[in-house]
Amino acid sequence: MQIHDLKNVDVRGKYVLLRDDFNVQIVDGVIQDTFRIDSSMPTIKHLTSNGARVVICSHLGRPKGKVVPEMSLRVVAEYMNIPFVEDCLAKEFLLDMHNGDVVLMENLRFHIGEEENDIEFAKKLASGFDLYVNDAFAVSHRAAASVVGVTEFLPSFAGDLLIKEIENLSHIMENPKHPLVLFLGGSKVSTKIGVLKKFVQIADKIVIGGALGTTFNFADGLPVGNSLYEESMADFATEIMRTADENGCEIYLPLDKGVGKEFAKNAVRENRDVTEIKDDDIIIDDGEKTAKRNVELLQNVKTVVWNGTFGMAEWSDVWGYSSFKLARALGELTKRGKIETFVGGGDTVAALDACGVHDDMTYVSTGGGAFLEFIEGKELPGIKALIK
Ligand code: 3PG
Repeated sequence: MQIHDLKNVDVRGKYVLLRDDFNVQIVDGVIQDTFRIDSSMPTIKHLTSNGARVVICSHLGRPKGKVVPEMSLRVVAEYMNIPFVEDCLAKEFLLDMHNGDVVLMENLRFHIGEEENDIEFAKKLASGFDLYVNDAFAVSHRAAASVVGVTEFLPSFAGDLLIKEIENLSHIMENPKHPLVLFLGGSKVSTKIGVLKKFVQIADKIVIGGALGTTFNFADGLPVGNSLYEESMADFATEIMRTADENGCEIYLPLDKGVGKEFAKNAVRENRDVTEIKDDDIIIDDGEKTAKRNVELLQNVKTVVWNGTFGMAEWSDVWGYSSFKLARALGELTKRGKIETFVGGGDTVAALDACGVHDDMTYVSTGGGAFLEFIEGKELPGIKALIK
């Protein structure tokens, strides 16, 4: 049993329900990052150039079964310059489609049946189509009707992007060149438990930064001032450090931090050793020594996996200091063929974009939660549903 791709499928004249993940950030009607949309284009082009009638469906945000105008996909249809269909259960428009046409339907999550994987909703969604293609790796960790339920009703295939994600991310898990280093940042340890448990077994080094690193520093008995961290995860952090030690996996924690007196974009940055954080300090980035140490660590490494920034990189160069230093060094070394670098997660990808090094990476995943679940070795429901 295996996943079927589209290579030998005759799609001419067929109605294809294509699941993409166009869950992009939109601010004042402007798409902030088109990476997910652009990455979906090869499959769309393959289908239309082979004469399929392509109907794309996606979710956007978490409207919880209600119509929320700010979460409409219309702006994505405008960006793609394709017709837009107001409701994902509308079918009349299918009669007007010709071979090679493509349209985008409204947000699936305006119907509660989508997130609940309601079988009646899935059946209605699938009706009128000849086949289904999942090209939405980024949502394949959700057992939703458009990801799992529809596969009960239609011959189902994986699109080019889904295949590419599976191949590249499986390579990290199955065949990485060593030394393998995981750089893990972001805000919550609780969302990274699985990845940490997996990588203490397979990685040679794990570098923990950002608010995640603050929790680890706290678990180590260090002061964290007025900063964001998870007190309840301290025992887990201690346990991970112990397991890593037993497995011969080295853990690197922040040595110093960029702190401010307020959690704000324009806060004044000071650099502080982790032993000297004051009660009214707010940690907003990793520090200069830490950033330098991280870059030095790359010299003897063959594979890097990076998820999660080390500070508020989305604010400015000031608070993106440590993330941008790493991004630039990774760009340089990867481009020169010295290391293979795999990156996932929206904020981390934004940091690559800010430094202009996105295209230098070995592979950049479109997944956030799906990327994490995949690399922690979980079976994603959307991928499982395609194996029939
Ligand atoms: C994502 O952005 O990670 C996916 O689109 C899934 O979105 P969700 O976390 O709202 O299910």
